[in-house]
Amino acid sequence: MPTELLAADEAGIARAASLLREGALVAFGTETVYGLGADATDARAVAAVFAAKGRPAFNPLICHYPSADAAFADVMPGDLARRLAERFWPGPLTLVLPRRSASPVVPLAAAGLPSLAVRVPAHPLARKLLAAAGRPIAAPSANRSGRVSPTTAAHVLAELDGLIAAILDCGPAIVGLESTVIDLAGPPHAGPRLLRPGGVTSEAIRAMCGPLAAPTRDEAPRGPGMLASHYAPRLPLRRDAGSVSVDEALLAFGPPLRGAGALFQLSGSGDLTEAAARLFAGLHTLDADGVRLGLARIAAMPIPRHGLGQAINDRLRRAAAPRPEEDPPSLRQGDQPP
Ligand code: TXA
Ligand code: MG
Repeated sequence: MPTELLAADEAGIARAASLLREGALVAFGTETVYGLGADATDARAVAAVFAAKGRPAFNPLICHYPSADAAFADVMPGDLARRLAERFWPGPLTLVLPRRSASPVVPLAAAGLPSLAVRVPAHPLARKLLAAAGRPIAAPSANRSGRVSPTTAAHVLAELDGLIAAILDCGPAIVGLESTVIDLAGPPHAGPRLLRPGGVTSEAIRAMCGPLAAPTRDEAPRGPGMLASHYAPRLPLRRDAGSVSVDEALLAFGPPLRGAGALFQLSGSGDLTEAAARLFAGLHTLDADGVRLGLARIAAMPIPRHGLGQAINDRLRRAAAPRPEEDPPSLRQGDQPP
């Protein structure tokens, strides 16, 4: 399917908004870089973002809103967050805040984290689109994974033509650098942390926040989707299960193995996009059911290694990895990395 290039007039914005509401992917310009937008309340649309970007892992995405009021319907701002929003929104600042339990944003958008990154972009056309869409729009930079972030519609077209429904041409992005990401969702004593320098200078942020803690080694994103604080189930997880026992909760893909104590089907038909869309819900459900039923572990059936299967396997590998308290002594907190 060829990608529609939409002019940012009333008709173009209306078309882009209706595509987003149908679950299609639409790239749009912001003042920082072009974003690859998807309805953040539609798990399949969010999974399609990861597929189009060719991401090897699920990174948490930023949700975009037309106003601070709209953003704060999905997250819980404290005093400092409200002041930062007042001062820098609309603009190139992203706030990571605890998400509200009533938020309709799907777990995959935040890669299973209990926090959510929210931002109100300054670009007037982006805000019109967000208002017309009428729902949170998850949008990473609109480039293939590992490539440079795009600042024009032509850059986006060069990388994603045929992979996404449309591009709303909002002209060149003027900041050209991604938004500054501040984490306000850590423990109360931790204070604000700078997760990514960007369009708002850290001097400007510090003037309001005081000193900014650098993220600790466990919190710093060490690569795509490498946040150690990513949701990990309480039950141990076993991958590539070829059989299952009654004391295990089965994460199934394709025709399910028989004999498990609990079951969650990622995709009966073996569809990787559907499986990605259901992954975090599946881990949460099996973990809760398994703990309630006294099961020993979660057993995950093999997932193909190609396409979105790469990101799903990456997530399962980290869910199966030893927990921090089980780290070897050389990796305990306070020690220097080798
Ligand atoms: O300027 C921008 O921010 C652009 C435009 C399109 O808005 N978007 C962007 O998105 O750069 P992306 O997905 O390429 O970068 C999102 C950043 C990543 O560094 C990610 O780790 C961090 O935000 N992030 C998102 N949600 C988070 C969360 N809940 N906790 C910690 N970090 C989070
Ligand atoms: Mg990016």
